Amino acid sequence: MERILIIGAAGQIGSELTIELRKRYGSDHVFATDIKEASPDIMIGGPFELLDVMDDKRLIHFVIRHKITQIYHLAAVLSGNAEKLPIQAWHINMNSMMNILEVAKMVDEVKKIFWPSSIAVFGPTTPRINTPQLTVMEPTTVYGISKLAGERWCEYYYNKYDIDVRSIRYPGLISYKTEAGGGTTDYAVEIYYSAVKNGSYDCFLTQDTALPLLFMPDAIKATVDLMEAEPSSLSVRSAYNIGGLSIKPSEIHAEIVKHIPEFSISYTPDFRQSIADTWPQSIDDSISARDWGCSYQYNLESMTEIMLEEIRKKLNLEILR
Ligand code: SER
Repeated sequence: MERILIIGAAGQIGSELTIELRKRYGSDHVFATDIKEASPDIMIGGPFELLDVMDDKRLIHFVIRHKITQIYHLAAVLSGNAEKLPIQAWHINMNSMMNILEVAKMVDEVKKIFWPSSIAVFGPTTPRINTPQLTVMEPTTVYGISKLAGERWCEYYYNKYDIDVRSIRYPGLISYKTEAGGGTTDYAVEIYYSAVKNGSYDCFLTQDTALPLLFMPDAIKATVDLMEAEPSSLSVRSAYNIGGLSIKPSEIHAEIVKHIPEFSISYTPDFRQSIADTWPQSIDDSISARDWGCSYQYNLESMTEIMLEEIRKKLNLEILR
């Protein structure tokens, strides 16, 4: 039976992936960890411990003590924040990942690793429309450089030490449960919260900045599908492209207006605009579809309906508390 360690269980992806993995593998088999406390459902729905992935000694003890067989390493400094503290972000993103790869190399029981890459691995010289799996990769952000280096290390550990590492280049992820922090695609979450709370939003990207975005349930499904795929079907051991939607801020605005007619938007692009300008607008994920059946359920319409409904519920609950 699998025993799964999640690093970053309080984060945007971790808070939802933990719940899904507990459903699939049983609550007692999924060990949620973070450097900060998580939401109550994560902390009481199964084992939760405070753990700093930078502390390699505690990490290896944890893995041995709990007989861990799979690790999902989801902690990272995102693109916007990384530009503010480049060396610290590089240190955290790279060293945490190397700690995980080394644990997998040292502890035989650890059979599988998941580590997220990002569309940030691409750069201004990459074809921006329908960006292929294999293409020019010259990222110009610290976050993108760390993700590209990480992809190379994943493939290296697979080839050299036979570690079954799997990875996805996530697009911007849209979710209502836990907000992201410090990313360039965060606008696509903030816009929904602002629409419900304030009826207006000042967007830090221009109205026609198209970026690849994906609704969290589709991202969770893709992650689980990749991790459960037969190893022999996987031809990519760096990180797989996944596409999802290609959306502009003006399009989300127009969709929200269908539900909240008075919702207004203004545009004040900041430093994150120059990050977005180097990223793809849409992604070719045909290799992921071929190798492990990657597919999606949600479009802008269905996602918007759910986002607005769930955020309303969440904010009402907060008022009642
Ligand atoms: N959503 C991330 C960011 O904006 C991209 O991986 O930093």
